[in-house]
Amino acid sequence: MKNTYFLDMMRAQEKWRLEDSINLLPSENMSSPQVRALLSSDFGHRYTLPINAEYAGEFMENSYRGTKLTTEVELKAEECAKQVFKAKHACVQPMGGHIAAMITIVSTTKRGDTLCAIPPENGGYDGYGQSYIPDILGLSSFTLPFDNGAYTLDTEAAAVAIRQKKPRLVILGASLILFPYDMKPVKEACEEAGSTLVYDGSHVMGLIAGGEFQRPLKEGADILYGSTHKSFFGPQGGLIVTDSDAMNAEIRKNLTWRIVDNVHWNRVAALGQALLEFQKFGPAYAKQVIRNSRRLGKELKERGVPIMFEEQGFSSSHQLLMDAKEIRAIYGVGINDFSVRLEKSNLIIDSVARLGTSEITRLGVKEKHLPELADIFAEAASGKNVKKKVKAFRDQFQMDFRFR
Ligand SMILES: Cc1ncc(COP(=O)(O)O)c(C=O)c1O
Repeated sequence: MKNTYFLDMMRAQEKWRLEDSINLLPSENMSSPQVRALLSSDFGHRYTLPINAEYAGEFMENSYRGTKLTTEVELKAEECAKQVFKAKHACVQPMGGHIAAMITIVSTTKRGDTLCAIPPENGGYDGYGQSYIPDILGLSSFTLPFDNGAYTLDTEAAAVAIRQKKPRLVILGASLILFPYDMKPVKEACEEAGSTLVYDGSHVMGLIAGGEFQRPLKEGADILYGSTHKSFFGPQGGLIVTDSDAMNAEIRKNLTWRIVDNVHWNRVAALGQALLEFQKFGPAYAKQVIRNSRRLGKELKERGVPIMFEEQGFSSSHQLLMDAKEIRAIYGVGINDFSVRLEKSNLIIDSVARLGTSEITRLGVKEKHLPELADIFAEAASGKNVKKKVKAFRDQFQMDFRFR
C-alpha cells in the first residue's frame, strides 16, 4: 500500500462529500474549519484525569503532568455548554450520544428496574430496545404508545401507561423526530409514578441549543443528553446537561473508570469551539434549519415526492419523512434502492426515508434556493443522473462552513 493511501482517501472523501455532493442525511452535519483544526490538534495526543473525577465522594488524584491547558479546556467547554443549554451542570465527557445515554441510564436506574421509550418502529432509538442497552444493564424495557397520525407520542395513553407500569425511567426523544412532545402530562405522570424523565436530544440538540423545537429541561426533563454532531454542528461526540445537583453527582460518579477513561481532549476542545459558535450563530441557524425543512417539504411535495405530514407543515425539526410505500408506487423501487439511485447523482440520503436540512443550512442554503434543489431531487428520483446539476448547485455555496 502506498504510504499516502489514507491521505489520498481523505482527499477523495473531501472532494466527494464536501465539494461534489449535497448531504441530506439528518444524522450528519459539517463542523467549522476551527472545529476541524482543534480535532487534529495536540489535545488529541494527551491524557489527563477529568476535573472533579470522583468516586463515592473521594476525589481521584490526577497522576498526569502537563495537563493545565487540557484541564482549562474541559472547564471552559463545560461553562459554554451550561450557557448554551441554560443548565446548571454540563458534562462533555461522553464520546457519543450512545455513551451519553449509557451514562444517563446507569446514573438513574439500578439492575431490575424498567425503562420505557419511543417505539423503534415509530422512529425511537434502537439502543433502548430490550436486546441492547437494557440487556447490558439488567433492565427491562417497554415502549410508549405513539400517535402515528400526528407523528408524536400519544401523550394521554403514554401518561396512563406510566401511571400503571411505574417505570424507573422514561426516555423521550427519537432518531426520527419531526414534532416536539407535549411534555407536561408526561411529567405529571412521571411525578406520580416516581419515574425520572430524561430527553435524548441526539437529533435535535442543535435546534434546542438555538432556542427552537422545545426546551426539555424547562418542560420537565431531569436530564437532557445526546450527540453533538447531528443538528448540533460540533465534532462527533456526546453531551449531558441537567439542573439537578443530585443527578449531576450520580453522573460524575459513573464517569471515570466506569464508563469512560480518556475522553479524547481534542474532541472536547472542538466541542468548546462549536459551543462558542452556537452562542453566536445558534439561534439564527436553528430558525433557518426549520424554515428550510418546511420549504423543502413543500417544494418536494409539489413535484410529486411523497413528503408526509403536509397538514402539520411537514416538520418542526431538521427532518422530513417520505412515505416509503408511496416511493415504491411512484418510482417503482423500494426505499433502499431509491437512496442508492439518489447517491448515484451525489444526493446523499438514508434508507429510513428521512431527509435532513442541517448541513445544507450550514452551507448557507435559504428558502429561495429550495425550488432549484427540489427540481434536482425530483429529476434524480425519477432515475436521471443529475450529478452535474448537483455540483452546480453545490458550487453556489462557499467552503467556509461558518453559518452566515
Ligand atoms: C435518538 C438517538 N440517540 C442516540 C444515538 C446514538 O448517538 P451516537 O451515534 O452519537 O452515539 C442516536 C444515533 O443515531 C440517536 O438517533
